[in-house]
Amino acid sequence: MEEGGEKRKQKLRIVLVPWVFQGHINPMFLLASILHEKGFSITLAHAEFTPIDPTSHPHFSFIPLPDGFSGPDVGISFGSFLNFHSAINTKIESLLLDRLGREIDDESGAEKIACIIYDTIFCNVESAAHRLGIPSVSLHTSSATCLRVHLNLPDLQSYIPIPDGFGDEIAPGLDPLRFKDLDILLAPHVQEMLPFVAKTSNVTTAAAVILNTGSCLEQASLEEIKKKCGGGGAIPVFAPGPLFKLAPSASASSSLLEENTDCLKWLDRQAPDSVIYISMGSLVRIETDEFKELAHALADSEQPFLWVVRPDLLQGEAGTTAAVIERLPEKVKRVILEEERGMVVEWAPQKEVLAHKAVGGFLSHCGWSSTVESMGEGVPMICRPGFGDQWVNARYVSAVWGAGLELGGGNRKALERGEIEAAIKKVMSGKLGEEMRKKAGDMKSKIESSIVKGGSSYNDLDSFVQFILSLQQPN
Ligand code: UDX
Repeated sequence: MEEGGEKRKQKLRIVLVPWVFQGHINPMFLLASILHEKGFSITLAHAEFTPIDPTSHPHFSFIPLPDGFSGPDVGISFGSFLNFHSAINTKIESLLLDRLGREIDDESGAEKIACIIYDTIFCNVESAAHRLGIPSVSLHTSSATCLRVHLNLPDLQSYIPIPDGFGDEIAPGLDPLRFKDLDILLAPHVQEMLPFVAKTSNVTTAAAVILNTGSCLEQASLEEIKKKCGGGGAIPVFAPGPLFKLAPSASASSSLLEENTDCLKWLDRQAPDSVIYISMGSLVRIETDEFKELAHALADSEQPFLWVVRPDLLQGEAGTTAAVIERLPEKVKRVILEEERGMVVEWAPQKEVLAHKAVGGFLSHCGWSSTVESMGEGVPMICRPGFGDQWVNARYVSAVWGAGLELGGGNRKALERGEIEAAIKKVMSGKLGEEMRKKAGDMKSKIESSIVKGGSSYNDLDSFVQFILSLQQPN
């Protein structure tokens, strides 16, 4: 770090603008905590409807932007999501222009804004930053491979619609991804999605791009992205992830839902590597039939389990977790509610759960944060993606890192009785499971080496800090 850097940083403020969902809020808050520890002053400007609790983060300042939304119902349709995305982008752009514009005009303001870091999907924030004359940095919260897929979509246009029987073919230029891993191309509204994806993956206008990943996880994809970002460093790309490993250990949770910490005490009573943890993240909804299959598998497998059942987990039905469980067959309900063997919670402190020695496997939708949290703790995965990038992540877990398996062979078909139970047994106790545990352990070691001095993520974080310092001189 350059001479005098510490002193200069004290006067520099970074404004971070997270996208509105939990899976996007978490990496943005992790980055905020990391940069705060590096000496920057941190402001989070967020859509007011996201229930972020500022009292949990006394070291940050907050700008809740009065967006006027009550929150999107992502379950309705892609069309309504597109409308929501467009409306909130426009609204937040104008609110930011107004609010930060006034701060810039008020010259008595002590801290100069060094840059605005925005979630890539919040694309209008970049326009606001540009008009305010503030450099912007795009934080891509999904995997580098997902971004690589998005940047390659124009080359795949001729394969739309994907011909029958092409699902298992490797997509050109995207080895080892198969066509069936590219959820966007399979969507019925693919032609509507392509311009949306291009807009929300645009990494060519920001001053820099930062990702919640590291070379130890996705080196080839990162190299390709760097080339596409102008080669030779025209738009620098930083990969200091996984961010949860670099964030100060005392970082407060950015969970929008209350975490049930009782499950940690329950885990304390279980044998090492014995518990299968099941969670579908914050957005995925599953069919009632799949929910029942899962419940049967947990009842029949005789494996201890910790299961996150969000009140809105079931497709098309909102309710309470208790009401959802109530609908299960008696035998299964008894195991789930009465036996010490299992525990059901509405929302878990996931990072602590995955770090707990009792947890030996993770049945997951493979959201990117969940994926890196599992690899970072050496926990093998059973992958059951829901949508979007999750298919790509599942492919990486199974085919690239060898640290898990895909339920149903990575196909979208309904699961049959016995299939989930067999997968749980394979990962928790079989020979194959042992190999996956070893591979997941290797991933953990690689990640840990990357975040210490001299490691790739450590170096990228250092370079990112230097980059911010170089953006402009403080007042
Ligand atoms: C969404 C997309 O689904 C995901 O694919 C994309 O990469 C980011 O946006 P989400 O589905 O919520 O995110 O998944 P994920 O990325 O895994 O993020 C979930 C976060 O919630 C993780 O940080 C996880 O630790 C946390 N979580 C999840 C909890 O704290 N408690 C829980 O019970 C479940």
